[in-house]
Formats: sequence, C-alpha cells, structure tokens
Amino acid sequence: MFDFDGKVVLITGAAQGFGRVCALAFAARGARLALCDIADAGGEETLRLVTAAGGTGFYRHADVSVEAEVEAFVGATVAAYGRLDVGVNNAAKEIAGPTLDLPSAAFDQLIATNLKGVYYCMKHEVAQMRTTGGGAIVNQASITSSITGVPDNGLYGATKGGVIGLTKSAALQVAAENISINALATAGFDIPDDVFVRWIDGHGTSRQEAAGWFPIGRLGRPEEIAAAVLYLASDEARFAVGTVLTVDGGFTAR
Ligand SMILES: NC(=O)c1ccc[n+]([C@@H]2O[C@H](COP(=O)([O-])OP(=O)(O)OC[C@H]3O[C@@H](n4cnc5c(N)ncnc54)[C@H](O)[C@@H]3O)[C@@H](O)[C@H]2O)c1
Repeated sequence: MFDFDGKVVLITGAAQGFGRVCALAFAARGARLALCDIADAGGEETLRLVTAAGGTGFYRHADVSVEAEVEAFVGATVAAYGRLDVGVNNAAKEIAGPTLDLPSAAFDQLIATNLKGVYYCMKHEVAQMRTTGGGAIVNQASITSSITGVPDNGLYGATKGGVIGLTKSAALQVAAENISINALATAGFDIPDDVFVRWIDGHGTSRQEAAGWFPIGRLGRPEEIAAAVLYLASDEARFAVGTVLTVDGGFTAR
C-alpha cells in the first residue's frame, strides 16, 4: 500500500512546513518530485534534504497566484519526467486579523494565492493527467474559518472554504476519468515554522496550552500529516471523490 515508486509527484509550497514534510515522505516511497515555492532558499533546502535521503527531484520557483507560472511548472515537470501522477496543492499564505477590519486588499491577495492558485494548479494538473489516463490531486484546505469560524482569521478561512467547494466540484467533473481530487482539512500540527506554530507563537501561546485545545491532548506530528496526504494521493484512495479528510486531533468533532 501507498507505493509511489516511480510516480511523479508535484508539490507546491515545498519550502517549509507541510510541503517539506510531504516531499520527504513521498521521496521515501520512491516518488520523483517536482517542487515549487516562492521562497527559493527554503525550496532548495527541501530539495537538498530529499536528495540527501536518496530521493529524486527538482526545485523551481513558481508563484501559484500567476497562472502562467503554474502552467510553466507543470510543463517543466512533464519535460523532466514525461508525466504527472500526483499534485499536492499545498501553497498558501495567511493574513490574520479581525475578519471585518482587515484591509480589503488583503482578501485579494489571499484569494489570489490560496483559492485561484489551487484552481490554476488543478486546471493544469488535470490537463496533463488526462493525457496519461489518470492521477490524484490533494488540496490543502483547513478547518479554520471554513468548517469552524475564527473571528480573527476569517479571510484566510474563507479562501479555504472556497478550496473545499472547488475540490468537490472539480472532483465530480473528473471522477469518471480516473482522476481523484480530494481535500485535507487540518489543524494543530507542530511543525517548524508552519502556519499553526506561527499563529500560536504570535499569540504567545505555549505548546502545552495549545495542546489543550485538542481532545487528543497533544499537537499533530509531521508523520501524521504525511500519512493523510499519502493516503489521498495513493491508488488505494481512488474511491474517495471530493472528500474532505479532517485530521485535527478531534477539534471539529467536539
Ligand atoms: N500547519 C497547519 O496546522 C495547517 C492547518 C490548516 C491548514 N494548513 C494548510 O496546509 C498548507 C501548508 O501549511 P504550512 O503550515 O506548511 O504553511 P507554511 O506557511 O509553513 O508553508 C506554505 C508555503 O507556501 C509558500 N507559498 C506562499 N505563497 C506562495 C505562492 N504564491 N506560490 C508558491 N508558494 C507559495 C510559502 O513560501 C511556504 O513555503 C497550507 O495550505 C495551509 O493553509 C496548515
């Protein structure tokens, strides 16, 4: 199960956090990687870690909010490996603050990266997957302000709610083409510099206090986000169509 030997896996936002964790997890299972980000030093470091662990891949600068850059990145992936099997649409930015008081321009920026970026990625990934008879796409949503409301993070959350909606509709469109599209809605991972850790650090919240927000009583581990992404990207998950897999230590179940 979860064999990615020789599979071509594209990951956006690979310079740190989930993207880096997932790159290493796919590489450990034999995938050939195409990594992008706008933070080039971090992206190159992820590639260095991948190759040091015996993996194969390349890193390329690509801003997912610019469709031409997404198209070029998918094109570079196919030029390098001849195909694309998995797309992990993970890149996102966060601008937190009181939902109704943030500058409206912040919403434009968030929509451009988090929502349109995922759309551009799916569009160009699917176009390529159709030429080889199938594939799998995993979109990173969030529980924040999409499944639950968070008064001081509503704009970010609205884009993630949009990702969930887009995931379902796109998944239905291509369900019969052997292309699976699903989303992950997570919260509470303790991964260096990830969006959650930046948030709790920014609010002066200790790890111990944050762990108390989750019924499981602890924060998430890197291997637990990797496992969820590997599952949705795997051949074994092809009957999952437009699913939103929630991995949040019980936060939303409560
Ligand atoms: N960490 C969590 O607990 C958590 C919770 C819910 C959702 N998520 C989602 O999971 C994904 C990864 O989270 P993370 O914590 O690793 O985030 P992160 O902020 O650590 O990493 C995101 C990466 O995306 C890159 N990026 C930003 N804008 C980009 C653009 N326009 N083009 C290309 N790359 C760009 C950043 O440079 C960064 O490397 C995000 O979509 C995030 O919203 C994370």
